[in-house]
Order: sequence, then C-alpha cells, then structure tokens
Amino acid sequence: MQRDFSFLTIYDIRKYARAKSQEPRAKSQEPRAKSQENYDAPLNFVKPPHLLVTIPTYNEAENIELFVKTVFEYIPSNAEILVIDDNSPDGTAKIVEHLIPGYQKRLHILNRPEKQGLAKAYLTAFEWGMDRPYDVFLEMDADFSHRPEYIPEMLKEITAFDVVIGSRNIKGGGVEGWSAIRNMISKGGSIYSRMVLGCPIKDLTGGFNMWRKTTLEKIGLQNIISRGYSFQVEMKYRSFAAGCSIKEIPIVFPDRKLGKSKMSKKIFLEALVNIWKIKTAVGKDSGIDQFIKFAITGGLGTITNLLIFFICADKLLFPEIPVSIGCFLIAGTQNYIINHKWSFAGNTAHEKLSAKKWILFMGSSLFGLAVNIAVMMVVIARFAFPYKFIAQACGIAAGMIINFALSKLFVWRKKDHE
Ligand code: GDD
Ligand code: MN
Repeated sequence: MQRDFSFLTIYDIRKYARAKSQEPRAKSQEPRAKSQENYDAPLNFVKPPHLLVTIPTYNEAENIELFVKTVFEYIPSNAEILVIDDNSPDGTAKIVEHLIPGYQKRLHILNRPEKQGLAKAYLTAFEWGMDRPYDVFLEMDADFSHRPEYIPEMLKEITAFDVVIGSRNIKGGGVEGWSAIRNMISKGGSIYSRMVLGCPIKDLTGGFNMWRKTTLEKIGLQNIISRGYSFQVEMKYRSFAAGCSIKEIPIVFPDRKLGKSKMSKKIFLEALVNIWKIKTAVGKDSGIDQFIKFAITGGLGTITNLLIFFICADKLLFPEIPVSIGCFLIAGTQNYIINHKWSFAGNTAHEKLSAKKWILFMGSSLFGLAVNIAVMMVVIARFAFPYKFIAQACGIAAGMIINFALSKLFVWRKKDHE
C-alpha cells in the first residue's frame, strides 16, 4: 500500500478543488443548470444529508434521556437517532423505549442481549443504517463528553469531506476535567498510534466522528478487525489509507459528570497491541510484508532446528533422519505460533490458535520437510562439508519457500467475510 505523508497538503488541495467546483462559474461558462437548487447544492448532496446519530450505551440511565433530548435540538428535522444498548443492568433501554413514542419514528433502539463492546455496538448500528436511506452517520458517546453543539458544524463540513473528526488535539480543541496523568496517557496513546501507523490524523482515538455512507462502503465494515477501543483508530486509519478526504474540527471534551467510564487499563493496553494488528491488516495486501515476516519466523525456527540438530546429530551422533523429524516438530510448532500471531496476524485477528490449523500448517510444512530432507541428503552425498547441519540449512531454505506458498493458500487464507 502506498502511504502519503504530505496529507495536510492533500487535504488542502482536495478542499480547494471541492470549493472550486462549488464556486459559481462565470456567466458565459455557466451550464444550463437543471434548477438553481441543484446548482447551488454541495458537491455530494442534492438535498441536505439524511443523518443518523448512533449512540452506544452501557449503564447510561442517568444521562440518556437528557442527552437524547439535547441531541434532537441540534440535528435537522429529518435526522434520526439510534441507541444501541447492551442490556444495561441499570435499565437504560427502558428509558429510551419510553421516549420513542414522542419522536415520530425518529428515535430507534437496538437491544442486544449482553455487553459486546463499543466496536460491535457501532458495527451493528452501521449495518442497521446502511440498509436504510441515510447519507451520513455520526458516532457519539451518551455521557455529554461529545457536545451536541458541534453537530451543525460537523454537518456543514461533511458536505465537503468524506470524514469529519471531532478533534481534541488541534488548536481550539482539548479536554476538561481530566487529571494530568489521564491527559498524558491519552496524548501518548494518540502519538504512539500516529507513529506506528504513519498516519497524520491528530485525534486518532476519539469517538466523536461523522462518516458519509460512501466512506463506510469504501472502508468495508466487514474488514474491521478491532473489537475494543482501537476500533476508532482503525476506522480512521482505514479511511485515510483508502484515500478519503478528512477534516478535523476542534472540540472541547469535558469529562462525564454522571455515570462511570467503561474504559479500563486492560482495554487500553489491548488497544496498544491492536494498533500493530491494524497496521498489518490494512497493509497486508502486498504479500511482501507477510513473506518477510514468514522468512524471519522461519529463520528463528531454523535456529531452533539447527541447534537441536547440531546437538543431537553432530554431538550425540543420533541418526539424522529421526533427528530431522524431531527438529521439524519442535521448530514447526514454534513457527506456527509466531506466524499466527505475527506474519499472518492481519488474516487471523478473530481466530485463536487451533489444533486444526496446526495440523494444516504441519501438513504444509511436511511438503517443505520432504523437500528439506531430499535436499539435505543430496548435499550430504555430493559435498564434503565438515558438518551435516550445513546440508540441513540448504534443505530448510528450499522447504521454506514451498511452505510459505502452501501456508498462505491453505492455512491462513484471508476471508473477506466472517
Ligand atoms: N452498547 C455498548 N456496549 N456501549 C458501550 C460499551 C459496550 O460494551 N462500552 C461503552 N459503551 C458506551 C458508553 O455507555 C458511552 O456512551 C460510550 O460508549 C463511551 O464509553 P465511555 O466509557 O464513556 O468511554 P470513555 O469516555 O472512556 O472513552 C471515550 O473517549 C475515548 C478516547 O479518549 C470514547 O469516546 C472512546 O470511543 C474514545 O476512544
Ligand atoms: Mn465517556
């Protein structure tokens, strides 16, 4: 994948291009506009965009009623709200259900049987909305940290950009009521994600974002691998990688006054690791990254293999074929684990290590081993090397190439849909 780091310029160019295309042309050039309304409309929307505000909730009984009412004050009259509740024990869903009759089909709720995390909540909401005639989706927390006052500005920007991000990390934005430590952790997390991903978005982790429907289609929601808070980073990174135009607008993010945050240290640490998985998943298509990682993994396996082989065959003088098989099993298992967790991590984010995959990988490695043994025997027979392990090394190299091809095709084949 090609990454472009001169992103600010690109934004500006795009913005300029779009602004230009909206500028009234000189009279002589003016096409016969079908109607004035069409001519003046922003680039992508002939009518005002049809907005769906998606609000995930878990134990937000103290906030939800006032929050929903406030959001309705700031959105256009055709906009709707969808709450996704994970069976909150505090009865959040009941409160929403009582409000629904008062809003004439503009307030909806999805009740899910158990807590499934923020990412799943949003993905479910988007899927629900993609089947309906919305043009634009907004993500918002229910605890007033995302202030509804910003919605009109975001709606304005979304007519010119594919993604609009409520950003705490640009001039004019910030947080209120956070301890210095929490602030540092959040900023650190953001800088870390930016560096790992090579992505210039200033607020990668924030959850106050607006997406065009077409952007969500471009990202391909079925590709999302995150299940935790790294979901926000992944969505933004994928839209950046897909070449979408992105606008950050400054927001002030006050800490919640009521209820509790669901963010924990564990969730945060998980997100740090996930950034690497996201990078692999988005960048993996070249196959070259995978091969390099596979080769490094094979190299590590070879060290293990040769070490054991050297001790057993050269020092202890055991026969080389059974020794080679033993080495194969031990190094193969090591390779299987590292390939699963690293080389093919982008294909396997949802999958655990499994006996079935292990057997498949060992099977694929067996082809490699057949080549390995054949090459080793030929080399031993034909060249008078002082150590047999050199012949074994030649065999491993040949076997590895076969193994990569089979692994990629049969063990860790990427699935497009879950
Ligand atoms: N349905 C559902 N399921 N909702 C959830 C779940 C869940 O498992 N976990 C959290 N929520 C809801 C909360 O009820 C709230 O409305 C919203 O998601 C955000 O949760 P908070 O617990 O308030 O998150 P936070 O304030 O710590 O984190 C916010 O800031 C982060 C960056 O600093 C969020 O906006 C994150 O998305 C963001 O990454
Ligand atoms: Mn919050």
